[in-house]
Amino acid sequence: MVLSPACERNKQPLLALLQAWLPERARVLEIGSGNGQHAAYFGANIPALTWQASERQEGLAILRGQLAGLARQELAPAAELPTAIRLDVTEAEQWPNGRFDAVFSANTCHIMPALALPQLLAGVHQVLEPGGLLLLYGPFHDGGVHTAASNLSFDAHLRSLDPAMGVRDALELKQQALAVGLEPLDDVAMPTNNRTLIFSSGPWQSSRMLP
Ligand SMILES: C[S@@+](CC[C@H](N)C(=O)[O-])C[C@H]1O[C@@H](n2cnc3c(N)ncnc32)[C@H](O)[C@@H]1O
Repeated sequence: MVLSPACERNKQPLLALLQAWLPERARVLEIGSGNGQHAAYFGANIPALTWQASERQEGLAILRGQLAGLARQELAPAAELPTAIRLDVTEAEQWPNGRFDAVFSANTCHIMPALALPQLLAGVHQVLEPGGLLLLYGPFHDGGVHTAASNLSFDAHLRSLDPAMGVRDALELKQQALAVGLEPLDDVAMPTNNRTLIFSSGPWQSSRMLP
């Protein structure tokens, strides 16, 4: 598998977060799985889960190839990684019909256009079980206030590459989430000035947490 250095750095803190928040035997949809590095790592380290990876059409063959290269014994005994599906969050017909306990997405909000975010949130609400979780990992600012200078320069760098990209406003995202029925639950500081924004699609049972 071709490894992303950022994924190598964030996969362990993200694993700890998922272990704390996911219910047992969770069915998880991942949006923008990239090279499948997170899918492979969580599939290996969370004892029982179904991890549905997805990508846009242009990256789908690479993702499927990477995950197909995983041997069964590289996954936890009760972990399942179904064939990755095509999903562009702006294409309503591409959202899967299945229901999920959680949706996870890492480092995608600043890559997709800001206008795609309400579509992402509405699609997530549609595929989550009541009380399901959305976990969005990446850099965010709060109404223009950045938690670190490095995120401000990353934002400028992204916008110089493509004006449609940019570090997103967590406050705005939380308002947009509320508008589609997703309740902001937590906002967890992560290493290297990243955050995980956690939302719920209804009353969330903390008793579902793993020990
Ligand atoms: C920087 S990569 C992150 C990949 C991986 N999640 C990771 O953490 O390494 C950005 C991802 O956002 C995805 N993406 C961008 N726009 C998208 C959209 N409209 N719908 C779904 N995924 C999108 C890209 O396909 C790509 O996989």
